Amino acid sequence: MSGKGKVKVGIIGSQFEGEIHAASFQMIPDEAEVVAVASPTPGHAQKLAVRFGIARVFTDYKKMLAEKDIEMVTIAAPNYLHAQMTVDIAGAGKHVVCEKPLCMTLEEADVMIETCRSKGVLLMYAEELFFTPKYVKAKEMADQGAFGRVYLVKQMEKHFGPHAPWFWDVERSGGGVFMDMGCHGIAFCYWFLGRPKIKTVYCQMATHVHGDKTKGEDDSLCILEFDNSAVGLIENSWARRGGMEDRIEVYGEGGVTYADLHMGNALPTYSEYGYGYAVEKAPTTKGWTYPVFEELWNYGFPQEMRHFARCVRGKEEPQATGEDGRVIQEVLFAGYQSAATGSKTQLPFQADGFKRPIDLWLKGR
Ligand SMILES: NC(=O)c1ccc[n+]([C@@H]2O[C@H](COP(=O)([O-])OP(=O)(O)OC[C@H]3O[C@@H](n4cnc5c(N)ncnc54)[C@H](O)[C@@H]3O)[C@@H](O)[C@H]2O)c1
Repeated sequence: MSGKGKVKVGIIGSQFEGEIHAASFQMIPDEAEVVAVASPTPGHAQKLAVRFGIARVFTDYKKMLAEKDIEMVTIAAPNYLHAQMTVDIAGAGKHVVCEKPLCMTLEEADVMIETCRSKGVLLMYAEELFFTPKYVKAKEMADQGAFGRVYLVKQMEKHFGPHAPWFWDVERSGGGVFMDMGCHGIAFCYWFLGRPKIKTVYCQMATHVHGDKTKGEDDSLCILEFDNSAVGLIENSWARRGGMEDRIEVYGEGGVTYADLHMGNALPTYSEYGYGYAVEKAPTTKGWTYPVFEELWNYGFPQEMRHFARCVRGKEEPQATGEDGRVIQEVLFAGYQSAATGSKTQLPFQADGFKRPIDLWLKGR
């Protein structure tokens, strides 16, 4: 590895998030360059490679890991594969960017963190909300004292459900909407408040509309109590009609701020005929729609990948780590336990013997 110039990147996965990674790196050409992509379905990685000018294509990611010049590998594959992939990437001496949620179990999280530490590579946790420009602005204002003591942080993300079958299969996803998108909200509240200790987790969840497709929950509410007495309130849904919603609210004794990621950056639009593309998961482009511009930049994906590449070069310190991912994983377990018992779960919480967070909720049903 040269340790200079653009960071050479390999991507595992070539569908939804793999494409976001490729597009994001294309937007930060001074810092990094995607040189390889791997995914098992013949033709899929090739298609992404053609679209983004990626030179090398693999169906077996382990073969990609043998390529000497690759310095950082991003994981954009289903959740149940994250731990083994991380161990393999670190074993090949390459830095790891792992998509959310970090993994399935806390034992896996510990192995991922320890393996990367012992191999001398970074384990970076891909939580783009830490880089979402609007949300970063809200945090900057909070940190400057704009709202005084912040006592409530809310984050919500809702849509009508994910695009790929594995999300609905709890064996491969580890949980329903709380695992898939609650992990964003937990991370957001924790990060926004400056990573205070989380004392308790309370969750309520149900499957309202997708019971034919999944054993998982399609709607969840989560309340976090932090030891600085602030509260996090996280709402998630795969049952919400009308496309995607991602919002925050921040309340302090001295002020308040609201940010709506989609509607706040959209062009209220009416079309009889429809048009190409409005925004992620929009069900239609006919009638009233709210197309966003610079979608990836507004989400923070290129900024996130820029930061990770700069961490590899030692220009920045990782702001989203395996340790962050582990905290969130613990809250996921505690949240499913709370939904099962109907009471708050105290942290620290250890769920020995459970292979995935949702098993704590499903065991009593
Ligand atoms: N940060 C975000 O906002 C965000 C958004 C969407 C997805 N994600 C995360 O990204 C990850 C991937 O999700 P997605 O939406 O891209 O799923 P997807 O189903 O669209 O794509 C998954 C990719 O993984 C590949 N894959 C499957 N098994 C593999 C294996 N054994 N080896 C190598 N590749 C394999 C598939 O071929 C496919 O290319 C998930 O962990 C998901 O939670 C994050």
